[in-house]
Amino acid sequence: MKTYKVRQRQWRVLVVQNWTLWTRKKKSCIQIILPQVMLSFVSAPLGTNSWFRLCGTNKEIFKTKDRLYAMKGGEGASSYAQNSTFQRDAIEASKEFIREAIAENFDSKWTKPTSPICIADLGCSTGPNTFLAMQTMIEAINFQFQSEGLVAQMPEFQVFFNDQISNDFNTLFKNLPQSRKYFASGVPGSFRGRLFPRKTLHLVHSSSSLCWLSKVPKEIMDKGSSAWNKGRIFHKNAPKEVVDAYATQYKADLESFLHARAQELANNGLMLLQIPIASDVILDSDVDPGKIFEVLGSCLLDMVRVGMVSEEKVDSFNVPLFYPPIKNVKEIVESNGIFRIERMRPFHVKNNVTFPTVQRLVLFYRAVLDEMIDQHFGGGIGDELFNRLAKKVKEFPNYMNPKKQKIDFIFVLLKRKPNLM
Ligand SMILES: C[S@@+](CC[C@H](N)C(=O)[O-])C[C@H]1O[C@@H](n2cnc3c(N)ncnc32)[C@H](O)[C@@H]1O
Repeated sequence: MKTYKVRQRQWRVLVVQNWTLWTRKKKSCIQIILPQVMLSFVSAPLGTNSWFRLCGTNKEIFKTKDRLYAMKGGEGASSYAQNSTFQRDAIEASKEFIREAIAENFDSKWTKPTSPICIADLGCSTGPNTFLAMQTMIEAINFQFQSEGLVAQMPEFQVFFNDQISNDFNTLFKNLPQSRKYFASGVPGSFRGRLFPRKTLHLVHSSSSLCWLSKVPKEIMDKGSSAWNKGRIFHKNAPKEVVDAYATQYKADLESFLHARAQELANNGLMLLQIPIASDVILDSDVDPGKIFEVLGSCLLDMVRVGMVSEEKVDSFNVPLFYPPIKNVKEIVESNGIFRIERMRPFHVKNNVTFPTVQRLVLFYRAVLDEMIDQHFGGGIGDELFNRLAKKVKEFPNYMNPKKQKIDFIFVLLKRKPNLM
């Protein structure tokens, strides 16, 4: 055991074997450079005296934290919990796909009296949508057992709720349904890295989460790069270099997600994903989902003009979201090689039901972006910014036109090929 003093803090590090280390510290982050590998330790979720364990090879570094912010916590008027009916509609719309996927692919031989069926919801946020997704999956599995005449062997379920370490897990736990028929655990950390031991999961679910990038691509904030995204906060109507930088980051992120799940899923384990995607038809530019970020960016530039925020702050702010074309998702999964694509079905969710008023629409975006905006601009600009957004949205009548508004998704069912790796 060695003790290191780094930035006035004591760190104890034990090198057990080449890549296995133990450290003890609270709410801090340290980078340790070892031959050929750099490891980051973040011990925040475990509390003052807990031991944070990191072990693995240089290919499977545990990534607890991406440079992202979680959805707005709590249950107040602008919280995610109160403003996520749109995402709930995506789960509702794919319920039938989920049932079908389980009926056709779930393997009841997984169950032994001593071991539960393990399900993870990745990017669960604060609820309540995650509860609906988990209940749908569990009901479908129970139905499968009943229809196979296995009533005496009904399984127990362990559900792992995962999100970033800054997610408001307290709100999630407080609202766990009383009537749930599963054991619940929270798993903090980035789903771009390993979260679970090898081959321990039977099903993985994730909805409306894989559109988030692990970080804003560096080059779009680099003044010297042709991909510098000056004057915009998103890639809509941006030069090709900006769009390419977003697409490249998306590819790298989806690849690391798949790499981690390939190790965690049991043979024949299933992954059920609902991913927002780019529309395959050219949309009226006012109804493209990126339009809102363009409008929000123009509100920020207006605030620059009246001296409320600095131009430099706006130029360095970019929303780390990307809606990929369906063919990109297919190519990335195929190149991973560990998963068989069982289904890839497009569907869409119509905004008009969820956002009957401009106010509701603006609250939806605020619930998603508020934390990020607070962190970047230093807090205090949210009310002004989103009031401006509400006024501007009214200038784009199509934005609230129920016949025009929709966001495209794909439901993806992947099966882990057995005995590979
Ligand atoms: C729009 S919310 C969707 C939440 C929930 N699945 C639903 O359908 O309501 C996206 C969630 O993904 C989470 N997320 C984004 N990137 C993540 C990452 N790398 N690791 C874990 N969670 C992530 C965000 O923190 C956020 O809670």
